[in-house]
Amino acid sequence: MKRIAVIPGDGIGPEVIREAVRVLERVRTTHEVSLQLTDFDWGADRYLRDGVTLPEGALEMLAGEFDAILAGAFGDPRVPSNKVAEDVLLGMRRGLDLYINLRPVRLLDARLSPLRDRTVEEIDFVVFRENTEGAYCGAGGFLKKGTSEEIATQEELNTRRGVERIIAAAFEYARANRRKRVTMADKSNVQRFGGDLWQRVFREVASRYPEIEANHQYVDAMTMFMVLDPGQYEVIVSNNLFGDILTDLGAAIVGGLGLAASGNIHPGRVSLFEPVHGSAPPLAGKDIANPVGAILTAAMMLEYLGYKTASEAIEAAVRQSILHHETTRDLGGTLSTTEAGTAICNRIG
Ligand code: NAD
Ligand code: IPM
Ligand code: MN
Repeated sequence: MKRIAVIPGDGIGPEVIREAVRVLERVRTTHEVSLQLTDFDWGADRYLRDGVTLPEGALEMLAGEFDAILAGAFGDPRVPSNKVAEDVLLGMRRGLDLYINLRPVRLLDARLSPLRDRTVEEIDFVVFRENTEGAYCGAGGFLKKGTSEEIATQEELNTRRGVERIIAAAFEYARANRRKRVTMADKSNVQRFGGDLWQRVFREVASRYPEIEANHQYVDAMTMFMVLDPGQYEVIVSNNLFGDILTDLGAAIVGGLGLAASGNIHPGRVSLFEPVHGSAPPLAGKDIANPVGAILTAAMMLEYLGYKTASEAIEAAVRQSILHHETTRDLGGTLSTTEAGTAICNRIG
């Protein structure tokens, strides 16, 4: 029995997580997956009601009483400070030390790519995004705030340990999955200190994996090549901010944010799974958001928990539903969120 904390969150989060949970309930019967789901109401509504974002003791509870966390999205126009996402989402990533943000970029159906003539074999890579430091460390401040001489500093933190463990995770993944190339993206031509550390650690770690090609690109060039020649990528590793940006682009070339899944992982510990997309306020409450990103996220979570067959069955059902045009409007279909979820459930058997 695996214990799952479910945090639907804000905006379209609850709508897409509802479908992901229905899929999990489906594989309970079809694939003997044994799960205990517990809901948590952390998000903007809760915050606006009682001022609580991540409750006291939440991290200890998650680490001690759960095997995985399934989350929707955090972010609400009524909370312009973005305090909820900062406390809950970044709070869990940092507080649970979930240093790997694993974001697959896989073309499920050739028709989904906005790029011309791309095959499903061609676009199939994973991004290892550093998830606990970099530009997300929260360091910085204001001087003379509100004056015409105002100065804002925004610092980026790169630790030897943090850089090494994400790069090593990327190479380990490549070795375990028979991938032949790891490409590291940075901006070391300008960011002389952090970039230098990434460069040195990359070469050092790569030397421990002689069978894997260690490739480097500046991140600006990578955004270009990801559009012009995405077939060259197998495993990408980058820092927190570049990884964030690259994975929205990655989602776009395989059909859009509505499809993209991710895992925030610390191997062997409670890990957090969430779609790459956010709360999409313009779509919220309308039953039109694409639930596939959340459903593939649930599949990733099952794989992490050791339920590989169930995970593959979900992915196969998603492919089939796309093949048969059972999609929401972002993919050119006519189905609602609920109907798209039902179509996928019906194809798991
Ligand atoms: P977003 O990902 O919420 O949406 C951007 C656009 O992508 C949407 O307007 C929509 O056109 C499309 N889209 C996203 N998800 C979709 C889906 N499931 N189905 C169909 N189309 C979809 O990004 P944003 O608008 O920049 O951010 C909105 C809020 O979400 C902000 O508060 C932001 O901080 C937050 N956010 C949260 C997370 C997270 O919790 N992991 C991730 C990204 C953004
Ligand atoms: C993501 C999001 C988050 C991030 C925001 C909501 C803090 O964009 O998960 O990709 O920047 O990491
Ligand atoms: Mn993002």
